[in-house]
Amino acid sequence: MRLGILTGGGDCPGLNAVVRAIVRRSVMEHGSEVVGFLEGWRGPMESMVMPLTLQGTGGLIHRGGTILRTSRSNPFKTERGPEKIMETMEKHRLDALIAVGGEETLEIADAMGTKHGLNVVCIPKTIDNDLNATDFTFGFDTAVNVVMEAIDRLHTTAESHNRVLVCEVMGGNAGWIACYGGIAGGADFVLVPEKPIKIKDIAESIKKRHARGRDYSIVVVAEGARLEGEEKPAEGPLRSANGQKPTGVGERLANLIEQETGYETRATVLGHIQRGGSPTAFDRVLATRFGVKATDLVHEKKFGRMVALQGNQVVDVAISEAIGSLKTLDMNLYGVAEVFFS
Ligand code: F6P
Repeated sequence: MRLGILTGGGDCPGLNAVVRAIVRRSVMEHGSEVVGFLEGWRGPMESMVMPLTLQGTGGLIHRGGTILRTSRSNPFKTERGPEKIMETMEKHRLDALIAVGGEETLEIADAMGTKHGLNVVCIPKTIDNDLNATDFTFGFDTAVNVVMEAIDRLHTTAESHNRVLVCEVMGGNAGWIACYGGIAGGADFVLVPEKPIKIKDIAESIKKRHARGRDYSIVVVAEGARLEGEEKPAEGPLRSANGQKPTGVGERLANLIEQETGYETRATVLGHIQRGGSPTAFDRVLATRFGVKATDLVHEKKFGRMVALQGNQVVDVAISEAIGSLKTLDMNLYGVAEVFFS
């Protein structure tokens, strides 16, 4: 067989581990050839292809980012996009495509399969961990470890200065990173998109903690979180100009906490640091397991499927099970974070 791989959407640590695993399994077990499409769905639309060999993909497991590069190109928003993809598949004599991506990439893959007959298998990735039908996506564990380390560092400086430090983390729609990172780092308050809270309650919680003799606090806030009763932020945009990305919540929250409590408060935005660098061992292993399983599905001609982690097993589900809605935070987990508020 000849198969193609693309990585779409925002990058995350573990993408190169997936590419390495797919090439290794395809060549060594199935005697197949693999090519990489560059820059997400732009690659198959514009026939941007690179050969992927055992030699060229060795030594990649630790490397962050994606050697295939990525984009948010959408063939369904491009003139003749789907047709161009099918022509490229034909031109390079490719039997199937493995698409590695988040919600939008999976939606495109699903529509390409059902409406245009593309033989496609998907691998879920996102640091946000908000994809349905899989317990975890790779990239998430690395992001959480970055957040944890950042909070560790914020703790020592917060304590020295008797400050409240707000740490804004990624998660435009779901609070997985904030909650896991907050629990692991020992945060004193965590604010997530799933549960808007009144600023007065946050301030009360911090004041109680300080009344117990703790003169500093760490507040973790997901970038998509908002305060209860707040449709729009008190000041500054909640979303960037293109409407894509929640912004500014950390800074706004810090100002409000300072106003309400009188404690000196500062904000730190971790941003893309959470997406960069080497994957953790967990993400390397998960990405490798996903890559091997997806390759086997292609060779079994089980198309329209996505690999998923359920319990400790890597299984396959219909791509359609993972799209349509996002996997929001398990509020039992938030309950664990709450034990440490105030
Ligand atoms: O990868 C997911 C994510 O990190 C979101 O948490 C975030 O809102 C978004 O991507 C930002 O991505 P970019 O800045 O690349 O558009």
